[in-house]
Amino acid sequence: MKKAILEKLREKSGSFVSGEELSKSAGVTRSAIWKHIKQLKEEGYDIESISRRGYQLKGEPDTLDAKALEIEMKTEKFVKKIMHFDSIDSTNTQAKILATQGEVEGTIVIAEEQTEGRGRLSRQWLSPKGTGIWMSMILRPEIEPWEAAKITQVAAAAVAIAIRESTGCQAGIKWPNDIIINGKKVCGILTEMSGELNSVNFVVLGIGMNVNVNKEDFSLGLQNIAASIKEFATKTVSRKEIVVKILSTFEELYEDFVKTKNIAKSIDICRRYSVTLGRQVRIIQRGSTILGEAMDINDEGELIIRNSKGEIQKVVSGEVSVRGITDYI
Ligand code: BTN
Repeated sequence: MKKAILEKLREKSGSFVSGEELSKSAGVTRSAIWKHIKQLKEEGYDIESISRRGYQLKGEPDTLDAKALEIEMKTEKFVKKIMHFDSIDSTNTQAKILATQGEVEGTIVIAEEQTEGRGRLSRQWLSPKGTGIWMSMILRPEIEPWEAAKITQVAAAAVAIAIRESTGCQAGIKWPNDIIINGKKVCGILTEMSGELNSVNFVVLGIGMNVNVNKEDFSLGLQNIAASIKEFATKTVSRKEIVVKILSTFEELYEDFVKTKNIAKSIDICRRYSVTLGRQVRIIQRGSTILGEAMDINDEGELIIRNSKGEIQKVVSGEVSVRGITDYI
C-alpha cells in the first residue's frame, strides 16, 4: 500500500496530490491514506500536507534499513529476510555466521558501516558510514564447488546493470569481479564458500560499492585506482535505488542459473560491458605472472587469453590487471 502511495506521489512530483485521488488510486479510505502518510513521514520521507490541497513528496531518505528496502522491492521471491546493521565488523563475516546457524537462501545482510570490511586476498575494504553499499547475500545453490566462481559472474552482471540503470554511469566489468567507471574501481565482489569436496554448503556473496565515499577518505595509493559513483553521476545517487535494482536483477539472473545450470545470460552481459576483452592483461596466478591479450569469456565464465607465446589459454581465477585500467599502466 505504502508503495502504491509513494509511486503516485513520485509520479506527480513537484505538485500536490489530493487525499481523494490517492484514496481512489490505492483503493482505500482517506483515513487509511493519512495513516500511511504518517508512517512514511516517520520513516524519513519528507511529505508536505496541506489541507484541501493534499500531499506533496519533497524528499526521500537514502537509508538501507529493511523497511525502506521492502517498500521498494519489486519482487519478493529471492529476498527472504533483510538484516540491517548500523555498524558491523563485516557483512560477509556476519552472513557466514548466520548461514552456519541455518539462515535460508535469500537472507541479506546490509550495514551502514563496516569496521573490518574485507576485500579479496585478505585486503582491507574501506567502508565508511552511510556512504556505500556494504551488503552480503546467503545463497544455497545445488552446484559443484568448482562452479561457485560462476556466481561471481552473475553478481558482476547484476551490479553493472544496476549501476547503469539507476545512475546512468557507464559501468564496466573488469573480469572477474571488479566494476569500473572511467578506469577507476567503484565496486568489488567477494564470493566465499563453505562446502565439502563434492557439495556446496552455502555461498556468501559480498558486494562493496563506493557510492558517496569522499575522495579524501581513500588512502593516497587508493585514490589513483578507486573512486565513488558520485564522482561520475550527473544526478544525486540513491543507494536504496541501486540496492533494489541489484537484488531484482540478481534474482532474475540467479534464477536462470539455478534452473538451467548455465550462466549464458549473465555471460552475455559480462561480455557486453567488459573492460577486459580486447586488451592486454597481466594475470598473477599462484605466484606466476601470465601476460597476454584477453580474447573472450567462455560460457563457463573463464577468461580466454592469447599469451605472449601466442598460445590460447583458459584462466579460471587470478589477480587480473588490465592495461590502461586501475593499476596496470
Ligand atoms: C574486492 O576485493 O574487490 C572485494 C571487496 C568486497 C567488499 C564487500 S563489502 C560487503 C562485504 N563484506 C566484506 O567484508 N566484504 C564484502
